[in-house]
Amino acid sequence: MPPAATHGLIDPFGRRIEYVRLSVTDQCDLRCFYCMPKGFKDFQEPEHWLSFDEIERVIGAFAALGTRRVRITGGEPLVRRNLPELASRLAALPGLDDLSLSTNATRLRKHAYELHDAGVSRLNVSLDSLRAERFKEITGGKLEKVIDGLMAAKAAGFAPVKINMVVMRGVNDDEVEDMVEFCIEHDFTLRFIETMPMGDTGRAASDHYVDLQEVKRRLEQRFELVPGVMPGGGPARYARVAGTELRIGFITPISQHFCDTCNRVRLSVDGTLYMCLGQEHNYPLRPLLRAGISDAELLEHIRQAIALKPERHEFKDKPEQVVRFMSMTGG
Ligand SMILES: C[S@@+](CC[C@H](N)C(=O)[O-])C[C@H]1O[C@@H](n2cnc3c(N)ncnc32)[C@H](O)[C@@H]1O
Ligand code: SF4
Repeated sequence: MPPAATHGLIDPFGRRIEYVRLSVTDQCDLRCFYCMPKGFKDFQEPEHWLSFDEIERVIGAFAALGTRRVRITGGEPLVRRNLPELASRLAALPGLDDLSLSTNATRLRKHAYELHDAGVSRLNVSLDSLRAERFKEITGGKLEKVIDGLMAAKAAGFAPVKINMVVMRGVNDDEVEDMVEFCIEHDFTLRFIETMPMGDTGRAASDHYVDLQEVKRRLEQRFELVPGVMPGGGPARYARVAGTELRIGFITPISQHFCDTCNRVRLSVDGTLYMCLGQEHNYPLRPLLRAGISDAELLEHIRQAIALKPERHEFKDKPEQVVRFMSMTGG
C-alpha cells in the first residue's frame, strides 16, 4: 500500500473508523434459532468467497487507512479451511495490532493452539446455556464440544476468553447467575447481549427480548457490581463483580444504543462492505477487486464506502428493515 494513504477514515458523522469485522464464511455447523433458520442452505457460492489473497489485500488497505483492529467472524469462522493460515497473514499486516476471533468453539479444541500461535490475541465464544439439553435446543449442537473448546482456549493461553450470552426470556434468562459463577470459576469474561431483529430468525427471537438493565438489577441482588471500563471493550458497558476478577459486559443495542461511538464496518465473505449492522447500506468490493483495480483505487473505494455510513441503526423503529441474518455479517 502507498505510504501516502496513512490519513484515517472519518465517516459523515465525524466518527473515526478503525475496526473491521471480517466474516470469512456465512456457513455454520450450528443453527442457533435466533440467528440462522433450521435447514437453511442458501449460502454464498464458493466462487463468490473472497480468497485469502483478496482478504489480505482489503484488510491491508484498511490498515493503511488507519484500521488497528480486526475481528474474524462468520457464520462459524472455523469451518473455513485453513483459517489459522489467514489469521497469521492478517496478524503480520503492518499497522494491525489487535486480531481477535468470534467462534462457537465447537472446533476450538483442535485449533486453539494454532490460532494462538498465528497471532490471534483475543477470543469471544458464544455460550447461551450450560445445560446440555437446552444448549441443543437453542443451537442444535453439543455443549460438551464447546466446553472442551473453551478449556483448550484457556490452556493455549487466551486470557481472558470472553463468553457471549444472548439473554432470552423463557429460554435461558434463568441461567444468568449460573453463567456468572461459571465465568468466575474459569476466569472468563462474561458479556450479556440483547436480541437484535436481524432476519426472520432475529425478529422471532425478539419475542424473547430482555432489557439488560433488568438483568443487571437482578444480578445486583446477589453480587456486588462495581462499575468499570475494560480496554478494547467496544460497545459493552462493564462492571466487575466485587471480590472476584470477573468482568461482566452488557451489550445493549436495543435498550441503550451506542451508535454515536461506532468505529466499525463489516466485510462479508462475498466481499461486500456493510456500513451498519442494523441497516442495508453496503458497497460491493468483490467485482472491483476482480476487475483489477489498483491499490490507490481500492483506497478511494473504501473512502467512498465509508461516506455511506448511516448515523445509527433503527432496530427499534424499523425492526423489519434488516433481511439478512446475523450469520451473514457476523455480529
Ligand atoms: C453471528 S455469530 C458469528 C460468530 C460465531 N459463530 C459465534 O456464534 O460466536 C456472532 C454473535 O452474534 C450473536 N447473534 C446472532 N444472532 C443474533 C441476534 N439475532 N441477536 C443478538 N445476537 C445475535 C451470536 O450469539 C454471537 O455471539
Ligand atoms: S450465532 Fe454463531 S454459532 Fe450460532 S448459528 Fe449464528 S453463526 Fe452459527
